[in-house]
Amino acid sequence: MDSPFAVLHIDADADDDEIKRAYRQQAKETHPDRGGSEAEFKAVQAAYEAIRSGETPDRATTEFVENISRTDEQDPGTHVTYLNYEVLDDHGWSIDDDDLFTKAAEAGLDDRDYGRLTVDPKETLLEGVERCGYAWPYACRGGACANCAVAVCDGELSQLVDHILSDDLTDDGIRLSCNGMPQSDEMHVIFNLKNRPDLADLKLPGDRFTNAYAGD
Ligand code: FES
Repeated sequence: MDSPFAVLHIDADADDDEIKRAYRQQAKETHPDRGGSEAEFKAVQAAYEAIRSGETPDRATTEFVENISRTDEQDPGTHVTYLNYEVLDDHGWSIDDDDLFTKAAEAGLDDRDYGRLTVDPKETLLEGVERCGYAWPYACRGGACANCAVAVCDGELSQLVDHILSDDLTDDGIRLSCNGMPQSDEMHVIFNLKNRPDLADLKLPGDRFTNAYAGD
């Protein structure tokens, strides 16, 4: 079996920047939408995790999930109020408006653009959204792109894997919905940020946003 460094085509003494660059490059080259296979793509993700953690990917993941697991069996989940970033321009709204969600609630938006749903305990935000019948964008589901990025305006979303967002974006409340697990009773999020100028370069091909919703 190839070493994680061989999978990423780097030397064992590569520094952090080289590792990140190699991961991004290999994630692009092995992405199933670019002619790669799912097995190759997953091997690249596992290799990156192994290098970063110094442990086996399985162990790192298990420990993380155990740490963030909820202990209350009766946990009702997280109530998430969501708003589609793409409708902001149409209404002359800004992502920084203090009353953004109040205006959205009064605007009569379609439920694919604004609404409320519940994410079950131990579900990621994206899994909860999909269980409710909605289609939010994603590509890799492994922390290697910004296709699934959301802005967390209120509440908390943990991050299992994030190899892509800069500290500035994270400080701005940007998180990845594909592996982020809600950590608060209530959340307000803006989804579909993939075309935001500072995220556009971080996208991978394979945008699966079809605006589908329950009842379609
Ligand atoms: S879909 Fe790529 S990081 Fe979430």
